[in-house]
Amino acid sequence: MEKLQLDNLVAWFDRYVEPFLATDEEGVKNIQLKIGHTRRVCEAMAQLSAGEGLSENESRIAFATALLHDVGRFPQYRRWRTFRDSDSDNHARLAIDVIRDENVLGDIGPAEQLLIEEAVRFHNMLEPPAKIQSPTRLYIDLIRDADKIDIWRVFVELLALPPEERPSAATLGLEELPGTVSDLCIAELNSGAIVHLDSVKCINDFKLLQISWVYDLSFATSRKVLRERGYIMALAATLPERAGIHEAVAKALASLSA
Ligand SMILES: [Fe+2]
Repeated sequence: MEKLQLDNLVAWFDRYVEPFLATDEEGVKNIQLKIGHTRRVCEAMAQLSAGEGLSENESRIAFATALLHDVGRFPQYRRWRTFRDSDSDNHARLAIDVIRDENVLGDIGPAEQLLIEEAVRFHNMLEPPAKIQSPTRLYIDLIRDADKIDIWRVFVELLALPPEERPSAATLGLEELPGTVSDLCIAELNSGAIVHLDSVKCINDFKLLQISWVYDLSFATSRKVLRERGYIMALAATLPERAGIHEAVAKALASLSA
C-alpha cells in the first residue's frame, strides 16, 4: 500500500462522515464521539505499529483498518439511533457494506484489500475464529487492541462528565445506579475472564467489563500503553467499595506488568 493510497483513504473518511453531522444536537454528540474515536484509534495504531516494529507497508495497512473499523457506526446511528449492535445490526458487518458500496478500497491490491476487510469484519467479535492464520491474524489482533485502548479513553473521559452531558449512545443505555455492582461481574473479573455483556446490568458493571479487557490484549506494546495511560486505575477509582472488587482489579493490573 502506497502513502498516497492511505492519504486518499483519510480524505475519503472526512468526506464520508461529514453529512452524518447534519442532525440534532444529541445526534451530533454521538457522531462526533465516533469520529473522535476513529482518529484516536488511528493514533493508537501508529503507536502499536512502531512499538511492535511493523514495516512501513504493514503500518499503512494497520492504519487503514483503524480508519475503517467503525465506519458502520455512522449508518447504524442514523438508522437506529443506537450503538448497541443487539438492538440494531452488527456494526462490523455494516462497515463492510460501506467499504464495498463506496468502493473505498478500489485502488488497493486484492490481497491487501482482503487483509483490511477481514480485520474490520472480526474487530468486534468476542473471540475471533481460531483458525485464522497470519498475516490476517496480525491485523485483527492489532485493531482489537488499538480499539480497546481508545474505548478506555472514551469511557474514562465520559465518566468525568455529568450524566446529562454524556453522549447518550456511548453507555449503551445502561443505568447509572450509584453503589450497585453485580456479584457475577465481580466474580467473572476475579477469575481472570472477560466479563460477559449479558452479565452487565448497570454502568458500574460495564466498568468491570472494560477492566476485564486487560485479559484480551495481544501485544506487549498495548499493555505498556495502557499502563502509561492509567485508564484501569481511573476506572477503578470510580467504583464503589464492595467485597472482592479491590482484589479483582489488583489482579487485572498485575497482569499488565506480567
Ligand atoms: Fe472502535
